[in-house]
Amino acid sequence: MRGRFITFEGIDGAGKSTHLTAAAQLLESYGHAVLVTREPGGTPVGEGVRTLLLEAPMDACTETLLLFAARAEHVRRLIVPALEMGRWVLCDRFTDATYAYQGGGRGVPEAAIAALERWVHPDLQPDLTLLFDLEPAVAATRVGGARTIDRFEAEQLEFFARVRSAYRARAQAHAERFVVIDAGANIETVRRQVLEAVRAWISQ
Ligand code: TMP
Repeated sequence: MRGRFITFEGIDGAGKSTHLTAAAQLLESYGHAVLVTREPGGTPVGEGVRTLLLEAPMDACTETLLLFAARAEHVRRLIVPALEMGRWVLCDRFTDATYAYQGGGRGVPEAAIAALERWVHPDLQPDLTLLFDLEPAVAATRVGGARTIDRFEAEQLEFFARVRSAYRARAQAHAERFVVIDAGANIETVRRQVLEAVRAWISQ
């Protein structure tokens, strides 16, 4: 049987990556073979593109094309083969992130993103998307810390406000697969919401 494709989305600092690990452990405890991966990244080409994207200043058009180049590798070489083998793929960001960051954040036309989406993965959409929703000002306090911040994390609050509202618009437009998590709560409460959402979705 084909596996399931679950994606984790949200603005930088929303805490999705921490909770992705907890969700993976829950699914493994149910006996599923789980593959955890991320975008941009997940393949040698994708990880190379990731370094460029996070560090090199570039035009929003270039950025969008690079994201989809990395995604083409990821979908064809990793995600689809894993799903066909029956594995459950948990992906830290996918195409919703391009609609939110490049579309909402940078103003890339939605139609351009939709055209690339149709080309790169016409037959693949997440089965479930967890959106970690959080005030940009709160998220900003969680980003950074000891490590140096990347090109996206260095953006202003207004940028993240646009990204957030684009994410929320997508959650409304695709309500059949989105669950919105209140990522402003404390870590234990967020974890409970995530595990509850995954359990509820599986039992449907
Ligand atoms: P990460 O911090 O979740 O690992 O993601 C790296 C950055 O890449 C993050 O700041 C958001 C950005 N990004 C986009 O702008 N568009 C995309 O389509 C994806 C997948 C990530």
